[in-house]
Amino acid sequence: MKVTIDGHEIEVEPGTSILQAARMIGGESVPPAMCYYSKLEGTGGKCRACLVEVSKGSEADPRPMPKLMASCKTGVMDGMEVKSISSPRVLEARKSVTEFLLINHPLDCPVCDQAGECDLQNLAFQHGKEQKRYQEEKRTFEPENIGDNIQLHMNRCILCYRCVKTAEQLTDERVHGVCGRGEHAQISTYISAAIENEFSGNMIDVCPVGALTDKTFRFKSRVWFNKPYNAHRNCPTCSGKTTVWMFGDEIQRVTARKDEFHEVEEFICNSCRFDHKETSDWVIEGPRKFEKFSVINQNNYTKKLDHVVIKTEEHILEGREQDRKKISMKAIPFTNEESKE
Ligand code: SF4
Ligand code: FES
Repeated sequence: MKVTIDGHEIEVEPGTSILQAARMIGGESVPPAMCYYSKLEGTGGKCRACLVEVSKGSEADPRPMPKLMASCKTGVMDGMEVKSISSPRVLEARKSVTEFLLINHPLDCPVCDQAGECDLQNLAFQHGKEQKRYQEEKRTFEPENIGDNIQLHMNRCILCYRCVKTAEQLTDERVHGVCGRGEHAQISTYISAAIENEFSGNMIDVCPVGALTDKTFRFKSRVWFNKPYNAHRNCPTCSGKTTVWMFGDEIQRVTARKDEFHEVEEFICNSCRFDHKETSDWVIEGPRKFEKFSVINQNNYTKKLDHVVIKTEEHILEGREQDRKKISMKAIPFTNEESKE
C-alpha cells in the first residue's frame, strides 16, 4: 500500500506503522521517538513525541483524522497522506510535548553522563521552547541503589517504560517496574533488589535519558571526548559485537552497537559491557559510524548509512519475529566464526 509523508511517497507492507514508513523514507520527516523501540515488543504510545497529522485517512475514506496521531501506534492505510515536519500543528505539538517531558526533568546536562547522546537533549534542542511555564516544584526522589553496575537517577526518568520492557523481554525474571501512578510513578526494584540478570545492562542503552547510566563509566569522561570503535570478542553468552568507547588506548565504556535511530542492533551481556575493559579483550574492527542527529556530535557524525529496510508484520503491536528471536537471546547461534577459532 502507498503512503505519502511530507510529499514523499513510499510503498509499504500492510501492518506498517506511520513511524516505520517514515524511517524507511529517512531524513527530516522521521518523527522523534522517546518511548517506541523497534527491538522491544509493546513499546510506544507513552510519550507522544511522535505525533503526526493525517491529512488524508486513506483512498477509501479520504477524511483527515481530526486529532494528531501517535505515529508509532498508527498503522498506514492505502493512499494515506501524512504531514510530519511540514505541519505547523505537529511542530507546535512537539514543542508542547517537549515542554511537558521537561516539567520534571532536571536541567543537569552539565553533570549527566548521558549528555551528548541523550534523546531528550536532542528533542529539546530541536523542538524546545525558550521559556518554561511550569511554576511548581519539580518532583524529586530519594536516591536508590539498584545494584553494582547500573545507576538509577529517578529524577531524570520520563517513564517511557523501555527499561521495563527490556527487563521483561530480555531477562528471566523482571525485578523492577513502574511503581505508583501519576505524580508518584517511579521506576523501582521493590525492596531495592539488585538487578542481577546478565542482560540487565541493556537497560542503560535503551534509556532515552540519563535515568539509567553505567556505574563503571560514571563521571569518567564526557561522551564527546571518547572515540567509538566497533569491536568484538568471543563471548559464550552474547554475540560479543559491541562498541568500545576509547580515550587514548583506554577503553572507558562498552555499549551495544546502535543504529541510526539510536536503537541497539544486538543486545549484549553484562560481562562484555562491564567486565572487559582491556584492549587485549577485544578485536577492534575500526571507527564506529553514526548518523543520528545529536546536540554534541554535530559535525562528527557521518552521512546516512545504508538504506534502512524495515520488514513489517501483520499485527504491528505484536512485534516482529526476528526481533523476538534477538530479544530471546537463546535463539542466537553462538557458534559464530570467532567461537570456532
Ligand atoms: S529509567 Fe529510562 S528507560 Fe526506564 S522508564 Fe525511565 S526514562 Fe524510560
Ligand atoms: S514514540 Fe510514539 S508515543 Fe512515544
